[in-house]
Amino acid sequence: MRSLLFVPGDSERKLEKGFGAGADVVIVDLEDSVAAANKAAARATAADFISSQRRHTRCAIYVRVNDLSTGLTDDDLAAVVPVKPDGIMLPKSNNGQDVQRLAAKLRVHEAESGLPDGGIRVLPIITETAAGVLAAASYAGTSARLAGLTWGAEDLSAAIGACSARDENGRYTDVFRLVRTMTILAAGAAEVAAIDTVFPDFRDMAGFGQECREAERDGFTGKMAIHPAQVPVINAAFTPSAEAVERSQAIVDAFAAAGNPGVVGIDGKMYDRPHLRLAERLLARAKAARISA
Ligand code: COA
Ligand code: MG
Repeated sequence: MRSLLFVPGDSERKLEKGFGAGADVVIVDLEDSVAAANKAAARATAADFISSQRRHTRCAIYVRVNDLSTGLTDDDLAAVVPVKPDGIMLPKSNNGQDVQRLAAKLRVHEAESGLPDGGIRVLPIITETAAGVLAAASYAGTSARLAGLTWGAEDLSAAIGACSARDENGRYTDVFRLVRTMTILAAGAAEVAAIDTVFPDFRDMAGFGQECREAERDGFTGKMAIHPAQVPVINAAFTPSAEAVERSQAIVDAFAAAGNPGVVGIDGKMYDRPHLRLAERLLARAKAARISA
């Protein structure tokens, strides 16, 4: 899961384009990009599209449902679970219990649709409410469905009354740097993927590329996109380079050749167990990227 492209669920044109954009995951949105009056139509359009694309597309299909406080989540699930999405994105998640509530609902909908129990994954957005940020540690061990954790800035701005998430130089302000960091740590604690948030300024490709590279450096393994042009930039930034793969393979090989000790020396530098773990993680990401390519 390097690139996850949002597509408004009520736009046939964008759904058509979105599935051809080369994203690892298409997130069909039933939430914020769909007006209240269009929710029912979006469910029908989205479900039709997913069922027609299911057999042709290589990308995974997630659906962003409306959050658990809206009263809309059940109707969203009833519309889309029968067409077998790979996962559900849960916005405005307040804690691990919200994931468990969604998982319980999914279990019922899977049974009603004759689908295997537990097949549909869950990807919560964990920083859209203040309570959600403060409960970031509660996701570990909540559900085997948990596919990763991601974060968002817009809804949190509205929730706390922040006029902007970024300062005059374009850098996130303290609250948003904190919640970005919390997402990385919470994902580490839950042993799932950390997915970086969207970059709304879709014409600023230089700024976007830099944000992707910083995210990869800091431990995110993928990023959400709002425009097809962002997808190749994400895929490039989150695919480990040939040099990084070679370096990591050399570390893994050196440990294996030495009989898996605690520490080895390669070219005059010390490598111990954390280096081995990091190298193994990078090789796993490189393998996953080859499978998606
Ligand atoms: N998925 C699929 N196709 C998209 C797309 C997306 N997310 N964003 C743009 N496109 C398509 C457009 O339809 C257009 O195709 P067309 O000319 O054949 O109609 C083409 O890509 C170029 O689009 P562009 O003119 O550069 O942008 P726009 O002004 O049409 O759209 C947005 C800008 C922001 C409205 C659009 O990118 C969008 O809807 N993004 C997703 C929003 C979303 O889901 N938000 C929720 C999560 S934060
Ligand atoms: Mg939102």
